[in-house]
Amino acid sequence: MCGIVGFSGKIPAAPVLLDGLAKLEYRGYDSTGICTFDHGEFFLTKKQGRLSNLAEATDDGKNMPGEAGIGHTRWATHGAPSDVNAHPHMSWNGKIVVVHNGIIENYLLLKEMLTEKGVTFQSETDTEVACNLLAWCYEETGDLRSALLRALDMIEGSYALVVMCKDVPGTILSAKKASPLIYGFGKDFGFVASDVTAVLRYTREVVYLDDDEIVEMDAEHVTFLDRQGNEIQKTPEHVDWEISAAEKGGYDHFMLKEIYEQPTAFAKTISPRIRDHHIVLDDISLDEEYLKKLSRIYVVACGSAYYVGCVGKYVIEKLCRVPVEPMLASEFRYCDPLCDENTLVLIISQSGETADTLAALREAKRRGARTLAIVNVVGSSISKEADDVIYTWAGPEIAVATTKAYSTQLAIVDILALYIAQTLKRITKEEYDTILTAFEKLPEQISEILTEENVEIIKQYARQFHQVEDVYFIGRHVDNATCLEGSLKLKEIAYIHSEAYAAGELKHGPISLIEDGTLVVSVATNGMLFDKTMSNIKETKARGAKVLGITNRTHAQRMLDTVDCEFVIPDTEPILQPSLSVVPLQLFSYYVSLERGCDIDKPRNLAKSVTVE
Ligand code: F6R
Repeated sequence: MCGIVGFSGKIPAAPVLLDGLAKLEYRGYDSTGICTFDHGEFFLTKKQGRLSNLAEATDDGKNMPGEAGIGHTRWATHGAPSDVNAHPHMSWNGKIVVVHNGIIENYLLLKEMLTEKGVTFQSETDTEVACNLLAWCYEETGDLRSALLRALDMIEGSYALVVMCKDVPGTILSAKKASPLIYGFGKDFGFVASDVTAVLRYTREVVYLDDDEIVEMDAEHVTFLDRQGNEIQKTPEHVDWEISAAEKGGYDHFMLKEIYEQPTAFAKTISPRIRDHHIVLDDISLDEEYLKKLSRIYVVACGSAYYVGCVGKYVIEKLCRVPVEPMLASEFRYCDPLCDENTLVLIISQSGETADTLAALREAKRRGARTLAIVNVVGSSISKEADDVIYTWAGPEIAVATTKAYSTQLAIVDILALYIAQTLKRITKEEYDTILTAFEKLPEQISEILTEENVEIIKQYARQFHQVEDVYFIGRHVDNATCLEGSLKLKEIAYIHSEAYAAGELKHGPISLIEDGTLVVSVATNGMLFDKTMSNIKETKARGAKVLGITNRTHAQRMLDTVDCEFVIPDTEPILQPSLSVVPLQLFSYYVSLERGCDIDKPRNLAKSVTVE
């Protein structure tokens, strides 16, 4: 949420900043700005709207001189998207410029204090308060580092704060707390950024900053400090992502590219964890002794990651016979959760920075639970703070709506369930073998769904249904959990009102909303429940619904006898079907959104990596 980039080097900074911001735009895209520094002067341009407005206003950065600068792409929290509220903010005395990601919680108090001292403000933002506070501390101390340390003492909240000062040419000073920040470097340049994607074109050598750390850099030097201002050593890491991983590579949208990357991402995520047909999780500390005492598992996450938890409940309970409760991270903190040392809290997050999820992780630890994170972004806050972490190797996910991260999270949940079940001897060797064999086939089966012929079928359905205003997704058991994700996808990228209901629940209220032409999407893959779901479909059809059914080959003919149109996915073990059934739902949302002319990769009002509560 909000992307920031700072650059100090020996080439013009503005084009580099614009390039970095383009990679970070997925984090927020309601306004942008850059400030460069040249011969004792700041050059500041800010624009409401997309980055293209800023590129136009700066002639692609050519009219912004200077070899050092900072830039920002915003997702508004305090103050509407506008030129004046856009970052960077400049202090009232023109000495300091700042870009910021996070929230300064006590900004009103600080603003009042500064106003009493005669400081003036232009914007409604909390960031301008941080900027003016820093400038005021600088007036008092005459030293930028000391001023930053003093200002941070007074600030409550979260920040990745990137600062330039008129008196210190070429130097960029940055501080991090609960918002991501990396330092990237090469010969004669240094970067700070919210995410490695912003620097990949220039370097793969990065340092992940921890909370309460500060980095001071220019083109040739870097110093890392702790919150007391003592120098500390940090170890650089090499990022092995290809640059192309963060580019569209010929696809019209990142979302489509990421849908197609799922077979590879899935295989990359599971292959290091399966050896000789055995699940190996030797990088985490869930041993038999601990697992024997395990009394309950919470799966805590937000949005799609939470829906992975909803599938996980069925999978883990079935295989491991341990109670599992999926919980929204924003609720977990406040529900007085029943945690002790025998509780495992599974934290799922693509970004590893989601504020609600991070807060829930801390709450779980505070209550003495064991925490295990499933995270995509290496070095993210959640990956660092959890007791154990299992990475999904999905590569960078740029589209705001998640697809490949969802699939790989689900893969890890399946692996974990099998691992626990096997360690606790809750399933037989035959069951284990059968499920693992089916599991290893999933990447190939996802590819089967993504053939041209299949995608053409989904495109046709999208053309047929793109004008509907309400959609109901229904399914039972794991199919119900998949429906939750399908419904969210359609809401967020196609702006269609949709709801997901357990198929058996429809008659207890929501069926009153079904009328002539209402679209019902039903996922029905489970043999034991198939007939029951068919009855529920018939109930909706009797009230005028048009039904699109998603089922597997085994049930294809029987489904077709009931629904208006169907999409058929390959057969697999019932608990693994969600990894396949979600794919047509992702494609359906994508093509419906395309038909409706929506901005697929950057849906309105949203941003990836939600770092505010
Ligand atoms: C939906 C989507 C969001 C995220 C949610 C959690 O397509 O992407 O619902 O799943 O914001 O984000 P992470 O996984 O980064 O914690």
